[in-house]
Amino acid sequence: MEQDLIKPPVELRYAEELSALKAADTGRRPENWKLSPKAVRTFILGGTVTLPDGQKRDISRKFYGNDALVERCIITLAGNRGLMLVGEPGTAKTMLSELLSAAICGRSTNTVQGTAGTTEDMIKYSWNYALLLSKGPCREALVPAPLLIGMEEGIFARFEEITRTPAEIQDSLISVMSDQILNIPELGDAGLVFARPGFNIIGTANTRDKGVNEMSGALKRRFNFETVSPVRDVKLEKEIILREANDLAKAGHIDCPIDRDVAELLAVTYHELREGQSAEGTKVEKPAAVMSTAEAVSVYFQTLCHAWYYGNGTMELPVLTENLLGAVCKENRDDLERLRSYFNTAVKQKSTREGGIWEAYFKTAAYLK
Ligand SMILES: Nc1ncnc2c1ncn2[C@@H]1O[C@H](COP(=O)(O)OP(=O)(O)O)[C@@H](O)[C@H]1O
Ligand SMILES: [Mg+2]
Repeated sequence: MEQDLIKPPVELRYAEELSALKAADTGRRPENWKLSPKAVRTFILGGTVTLPDGQKRDISRKFYGNDALVERCIITLAGNRGLMLVGEPGTAKTMLSELLSAAICGRSTNTVQGTAGTTEDMIKYSWNYALLLSKGPCREALVPAPLLIGMEEGIFARFEEITRTPAEIQDSLISVMSDQILNIPELGDAGLVFARPGFNIIGTANTRDKGVNEMSGALKRRFNFETVSPVRDVKLEKEIILREANDLAKAGHIDCPIDRDVAELLAVTYHELREGQSAEGTKVEKPAAVMSTAEAVSVYFQTLCHAWYYGNGTMELPVLTENLLGAVCKENRDDLERLRSYFNTAVKQKSTREGGIWEAYFKTAAYLK
């Protein structure tokens, strides 16, 4: 089944790892959790487990950068508090919330996507109007949405980009989070739904959207907040780019060699533009655009696709630079100047000092127009 999907959900993609973790799991488990907090941690941060027959099984690392944060997230959830992951776009908030849900509940897809148009029906429940008209308000006519599904099944409901949703809609979570009860008045006495153990909410919010629909204080108090920061280690960022591009290439049946040097160029470029400083200590003007690892992955993968469909299978630097230009300068024309100036200072310096691929990279500055 996995081969037939563009992006299989985490629980399918890592089904083997999850069953190995389950078989090897001897840790304490909160009620209704599929895995113990220790095994959840191993699933996300990687490690080796010993199966009951004595065999060892490696578990891959999926989230890089802040192990303590992952542990705190798991503890928050084990303690029945809501978890809110906040941070810049592309810092793996969504990925982390999917990993947590898949490991703890076996399901990462019980999700509300927050938008300006999100309504209470999309969060709680709605009705099948044909049944409602023929039978009146009854359980059969009820169409549960992620919050109700989570409460009844004892699993997580994920709320993506919660601050894009109007504040009064966000606030519909408050009573459920404090009382663990959802009232469906149309069903009369049968309308009280009590949450089963294992139910919880993981929200994500982008700090760039802050102020769009600020969360109310009352709702904030019901969540533990964790701030996810961009990866600040160039080597790690390079590994993430390579790993993700490799997965994307596999999924797209693109059989090009993955170029490690190009991943390094890109990781360094993203890192230096994000930090506002080159490794050599030169000041770099930061673009207004978000310089996220996720964007770096997409620039790399686009360049790989170009090599596969139009080229001879080798990644080309002019194409890389053009893709970089598209990614960095999509919102703000001033960013073009900043990118040019980055090439003319930091990249130029590396070109003179190290030559090789940096020299070739510097020559592609001509494509920045
Ligand atoms: N710390 C990290 N560890 C692993 N992958 C990361 C990390 N930061 C970013 N990524 C990459 O960025 C991608 C996008 O992350 P996503 O979860 O969509 O971000 P967000 O929801 O914060 O905008 C991830 O799928 C992953 O490839
Ligand atoms: Mg996200």
